[in-house]
Amino acid sequence: MVFDLLSRSSAPVSDEIRKRLGIDMSVGRLELQNYLIKSTEARLRLDVPLVSVPPEVHCMGRRTSIGDLYAADWVVSILNLFLVTPPSRQRSPFSLLDLGCSSGRLIALLAHVMPDIHFVGVDPRRSSIDYAVRELSRPNLDFLLSQQTPPLPVDAAQFDFVSAVSIWSHFSEDRALLWLREMGRILRPGGLLMLTMGGLGKLIKYRTQGRHSQRVFDRRTARIERGEWLFTAYPDGRRQGEELNLEHWGDATAGISWWQRAIAETFLLEAFFPAGFHGVQDIYVLRLKGKSN
Ligand SMILES: C[S@@+](CC[C@H](N)C(=O)[O-])C[C@H]1O[C@@H](n2cnc3c(N)ncnc32)[C@H](O)[C@@H]1O
Repeated sequence: MVFDLLSRSSAPVSDEIRKRLGIDMSVGRLELQNYLIKSTEARLRLDVPLVSVPPEVHCMGRRTSIGDLYAADWVVSILNLFLVTPPSRQRSPFSLLDLGCSSGRLIALLAHVMPDIHFVGVDPRRSSIDYAVRELSRPNLDFLLSQQTPPLPVDAAQFDFVSAVSIWSHFSEDRALLWLREMGRILRPGGLLMLTMGGLGKLIKYRTQGRHSQRVFDRRTARIERGEWLFTAYPDGRRQGEELNLEHWGDATAGISWWQRAIAETFLLEAFFPAGFHGVQDIYVLRLKGKSN
């Protein structure tokens, strides 16, 4: 296998893991506990340094900040499934960019386990990037501060793979298209973009949880199926992040019809995993058209 993050283990929870987790395993949310067990096992086995991100620095899934093993697992699976030319046979070093990396929980884990790949994390949030540069940089991992609109501070056709976890799920339609075009600029021909965002699965979940009425659910579902991009900017004050301009950043929902139309000229849709990400966000794997090296 080209990439091997870890072999999944069903080994019983050892005392060491219980101690590391520091939580009472007999109560609480089963899903989270399973995730923590797996992550901790992997961390111990892979010897990934334990990093806890300070409260003032942005970090998703803070309770599981021992590294985003879940997303890393997806990245590795997609590399294994869809990579045409293994990194060892490529002319230039294989490189992966994580768009909207926040404080690096995904990319730091990947960089630790795949030292032959060059990784770049970008995010417009200064405190996250400062933290990541200070705490997580390593020879195969760089972090760059980006702007909220393209271009990224990188040359064209530099990357074989871009991951974007929960990024398009926040863009206005205008920004979604702008950033898609930017991905076409920075990827090498044949390169892959893996992104996650909420679509029909998210609407079903919201309806099931009672967050949306049947009327709202029906209306939104019909719009998604017609290929519309639904976007609501966050109200003032909510999730205001440092110097970020949140005019084009909020809650976005779209489905495969929107994506098929948007990518038609530039990308091929390699794979679509509906609600594949934590049972809520869809996963898209797009390949930049053109011949790979
Ligand atoms: C929902 S978080 C996801 C973080 C990371 N990918 C993860 O899964 O942990 C969204 C990230 O995108 C960043 N971001 C990227 N582009 C942005 C933009 N145009 N405006 C605001 N935030 C943006 C945020 O700073 C934040 O770190």
